[in-house]
Amino acid sequence: MSQTTSNLNQAFAGESQANQMYLAFAEKAEKEGHPGVACLFRAVAEAERVHASKHFEAAGKVKSTLENLKQAIAGEHHEFSEMYPPFITQARAEGNQAAEASFERANTVEQVHYGLFQRAVAEINSGEGQKQSYYVCQVCGHTVAECAPERCPTCGAPEVRFKEID
Ligand SMILES: [Fe+2]
Ligand SMILES: [Fe+2]
Repeated sequence: MSQTTSNLNQAFAGESQANQMYLAFAEKAEKEGHPGVACLFRAVAEAERVHASKHFEAAGKVKSTLENLKQAIAGEHHEFSEMYPPFITQARAEGNQAAEASFERANTVEQVHYGLFQRAVAEINSGEGQKQSYYVCQVCGHTVAECAPERCPTCGAPEVRFKEID
């Protein structure tokens, strides 16, 4: 890997993290009654998202949709089979309940994502894919097609906590 490719990867990771960090800071600023600061954090978060996206493209990481789906499947599989299980065990051993709950929920939902991506590959291969909306739980990330459930099967959040993605 060239030094610049490595720099692109590093910059992509850093800008992606800054995007999420600023969105979290914006929520906190709203709660503390600083709507102007919240807006600034959201604006700069959006700029960091653009930077991350451009770095990712420049690194040649965006392939065909079938290749991208296969990479997504491998990534989700890695998360629920190799990454999260030891993270959950370690968090429990250290008595860190917030981390344990966060890892547990993500681990469950990655398996759902794995299935959704696999279904998308099958649909491309059979030529039967149709566009549909998805609903994402804003508490745990649980992801479902077509309509939101009355209660999130992963975290129990009510239907109103699901955000439509179309
Ligand atoms: Fe996932
Ligand atoms: Fe949920």
